[in-house]
Amino acid sequence: MPDPVMSVEMLPHITNKILAHYDANARLLPWRSPPGTPAPDPYRVWLSEIMLQQTTVAAVKAYFDYFTQRWPTVAALAAAEDADVMAAWAGLGYYARARNLLACARVVAQDFGGHFPSDEAGLRALPGIGPYTAAAIAAIAFGRAAPVMDGNVERVIARLYAIATPLPAAKPQLYQHVAALTPQHRPGDFAQAMMDLGATICTPRAPLCGLCPIADACQGRLAAESFPVKAPKLAKPHRQGRAWWIEADGAVFLIRRPEKGLLGGMRALPSCDWQGAEGAPPLEGAWHRLGDVDHVFTHFRLTLGVDGLRLRDRPQMALLGEWWPIDRLAEAGLPTLFNKAAKAAQKGMRMT
Ligand code: ADE
Repeated sequence: MPDPVMSVEMLPHITNKILAHYDANARLLPWRSPPGTPAPDPYRVWLSEIMLQQTTVAAVKAYFDYFTQRWPTVAALAAAEDADVMAAWAGLGYYARARNLLACARVVAQDFGGHFPSDEAGLRALPGIGPYTAAAIAAIAFGRAAPVMDGNVERVIARLYAIATPLPAAKPQLYQHVAALTPQHRPGDFAQAMMDLGATICTPRAPLCGLCPIADACQGRLAAESFPVKAPKLAKPHRQGRAWWIEADGAVFLIRRPEKGLLGGMRALPSCDWQGAEGAPPLEGAWHRLGDVDHVFTHFRLTLGVDGLRLRDRPQMALLGEWWPIDRLAEAGLPTLFNKAAKAAQKGMRMT
């Protein structure tokens, strides 16, 4: 279905209303400059954008503060130990992003003298920076009129133009509309104004159309919740796995996962590969079933059964890993899945 007609002359009017609303209502966030003021440090924009791909604004704030205090510049981050950055990232999920974060910081520090490229093409050539992030950095940190489209912006545009094509097929069409609305002047504020509109007014459910600065132009207003139209979701495959909690002398045995692959480079409990076969525990012994934990990854769900073994002493035989004090487990930087497994294991061990 063609988009409902909206004359080209109306576009600056819509853009200006969105900017004026942002001037009065912008969320003050640690990585932002207030509306109409000079652009923030590109390092902070880049870091926040990578973190915000993972989780909500509320959850990112504490991580952002920690990273920028510990590593205030891209050069400082580039010089960090891999393990420290991976541990600081724990809880944000998707560790490939943290590995790319470090790789990107090192390229910027070593090849670009600590200065991020200022255009989309230059930014996209860096590790871990895709089209969305490149556009967001170019617009917010460098004032380039790059169209920025995240999930919030998609929803605002799908409603504004009552786009009937389902997502994800509608993306190119939505992007054209964002591009047409993006101004040469204050493109970074415009991008963030659209994000705020989507996050605070044009919400997925129960949008506050009465407060919306562009409600008069909105073609989808009367059925706002039916946009964006979505293609039916395929169920995620459900995998099973097993992890092993080995306890001796107040310590638990941890391994480091292979660099490549899921949760790569992170500390973890020993576990099977979650591909179906249960695998053999790393030691023979009187194992107890301690409990199950569920976790949802991007492409599959996992139920991880946790077995436990209590030993009198640490075994003499070589086990590839380290013994970690159980009362300091919070400092091991375990990824969320293994934090859940460790909690279930400790609870289960108390009952054995
Ligand atoms: N989500 C992604 N980038 C953002 C930003 N700069 N402000 C608010 N939410 C965002």
